[in-house]
Amino acid sequence: MSYIEKLYDLKGKVAVIIGGTGELCSHMALGLAQAGVEVVLAGRNEDKAMDRMDMIEAAGGSGYFVATDLMEKGSLYALLDIVIERSGQIDILINGAGVNTAKPLFEIPTEDFQTILDINLTSTFQACQVFGQYFIEKNIPASIINLGSVAGLTPISCSIAYSASKAALHNLTKNLAREWADQDIRVNTLIPGFFPSEENQTALNESRILEILRQTPMSRFGDPDELIGATLLLASSKAGSFITGSEFLVDGGYNTMSI
Ligand SMILES: NC(=O)c1ccc[n+]([C@@H]2O[C@H](COP(=O)([O-])OP(=O)(O)OC[C@H]3O[C@@H](n4cnc5c(N)ncnc54)[C@H](O)[C@@H]3O)[C@@H](O)[C@H]2O)c1
Repeated sequence: MSYIEKLYDLKGKVAVIIGGTGELCSHMALGLAQAGVEVVLAGRNEDKAMDRMDMIEAAGGSGYFVATDLMEKGSLYALLDIVIERSGQIDILINGAGVNTAKPLFEIPTEDFQTILDINLTSTFQACQVFGQYFIEKNIPASIINLGSVAGLTPISCSIAYSASKAALHNLTKNLAREWADQDIRVNTLIPGFFPSEENQTALNESRILEILRQTPMSRFGDPDELIGATLLLASSKAGSFITGSEFLVDGGYNTMSI
């Protein structure tokens, strides 16, 4: 095996991907699976999970789906137990569940604001507690990748609750990176720019698409497969050995634009 192959060697690792049935995370799972990682898709939509698993298996990868209610800590502990029993270990955790509501401030009921915070922020907090405790107790040099957003760096329209939740998630990630650095647990935020997904299609009309393209120096949306390189880098304890607490942007340059 060459030096470069060793840097990115993830064969035999196990990744738990919460929100893994979603558009972006299923492509990140595909990339990990093609690198020899056993991928566990954790989520609520079994039909979608089966489609995603077909895609992964067709590419020569392996893994399975575990139905998980990410709002329930008990369900996260059950997920941990199932994966340890079935796969023997966990090395990588990806927190990728996310929701938005494209409404202006006065039209967002407090309960909806709270739900967005719960799904985008609190669920990751809980998953990091459950899996972080396991990584520490077992002395595992783990990688945690949280899915942030450019909306968490600077506000974007139609995303008040979403932006607030992602900004807090970026901050949570940095805190955990500090806390766990001496235990060899790396925690990073992977920040996608604009990628087409089922969720955000509903919020994208023609003028908004033009505005996004105008604000993106590469003048296009990302392809979900373009997240795979960053995922492998952050997941690898060799290639990514000194990367923790980072906000890793894959955004076609969106963050460089101010006017
Ligand atoms: N698509 C983009 O342009 C974009 C840009 C920046 C950040 N992101 C972030 O990337 C992540 C993935 O986004 P995506 O575009 O693939 O969206 P997606 O809607 O395809 O995936 C989101 C996933 O979250 C899951 N989820 C939502 N609420 C849940 C709940 N209550 N319980 C369990 N699962 C729940 C969904 O089932 C789905 O699997 C999200 O965190 C999103 O905020 C996406």
